Amino acid sequence: MEEFNYGYFKKSADYIQSKIGYKVDLALILGSCLGSLAEEIENPIVIDYKDIPNFLISTVESHAGKLIIGDLHGKKVVCMSGRFHYYEGYDFEQLVIPIRVFKLLGVETVILTNAAGAVNTSFKPEDIMIINDHIKLMGASPLRGPNLEEFGPRFNDMSKVYDRNLIFIAKKSAEKISLDIKEGVYYFCPGPQFETPAEIRAIRILGGDAVGMSTVTEAITASHCGIKVLGLSLITNMAAGILDQAITADEVDETATKSAMRFKELLREVLKEID
Ligand code: HPA
Repeated sequence: MEEFNYGYFKKSADYIQSKIGYKVDLALILGSCLGSLAEEIENPIVIDYKDIPNFLISTVESHAGKLIIGDLHGKKVVCMSGRFHYYEGYDFEQLVIPIRVFKLLGVETVILTNAAGAVNTSFKPEDIMIINDHIKLMGASPLRGPNLEEFGPRFNDMSKVYDRNLIFIAKKSAEKISLDIKEGVYYFCPGPQFETPAEIRAIRILGGDAVGMSTVTEAITASHCGIKVLGLSLITNMAAGILDQAITADEVDETATKSAMRFKELLREVLKEID
């Protein structure tokens, strides 16, 4: 496998930097069907993933596969419209790439968004959940392999991955727009299959409130290199076995598309509050 040394990430970052010429404050990673949020970015510079040296390409239909860099509510942002997942065939070690490249562009905060299934039965589709912690009990880690000290320590503390101040800001922002926001633990399942009802019952016992197939590799990588993380899950469906019906990708996409406005409103408020 390719060795991911510091120069590997620098090559991607240098290419992006040569197209923009300024430091980026904040990264926004958009989950399934939340890509329309990128339309609000002003003075956009759009770069296809496939044009960035050493980057990855998006293989999922509902993910666009572009970086959009520009101004959003007073911040210089880099937005990933379309992210990379383990289920696409990427190794955990490859999934560090976007966040490390963003670190080299100067990013200090990342907002991770995703679509997720509700494990907590008090949640319902179209709810938004602030992620206050995650569970990833799979053995693999994006930080496996030689440690790059330029990014962070070999053994990374994970006790406060999701920034307390950003959680506070998200709650305040929700209040401002009269949104009854939820808070809970995101449980990572690798997919691409949805879970079984027995898995969901187990996840509930273990403390998961929502389940999804993304976000944690990015959160771990960000935590390692000192980027502050805000995680927001859009609940698109009740997780397997809660209702007597199948879960489909269409249901997930439909709910995400329907709720995108509300999500945008929340993000707008959050961005205004972040300094
Ligand atoms: N499980 C896993 N990932 C998901 C789900 C789900 O129920 N809904 C949206 N993403």
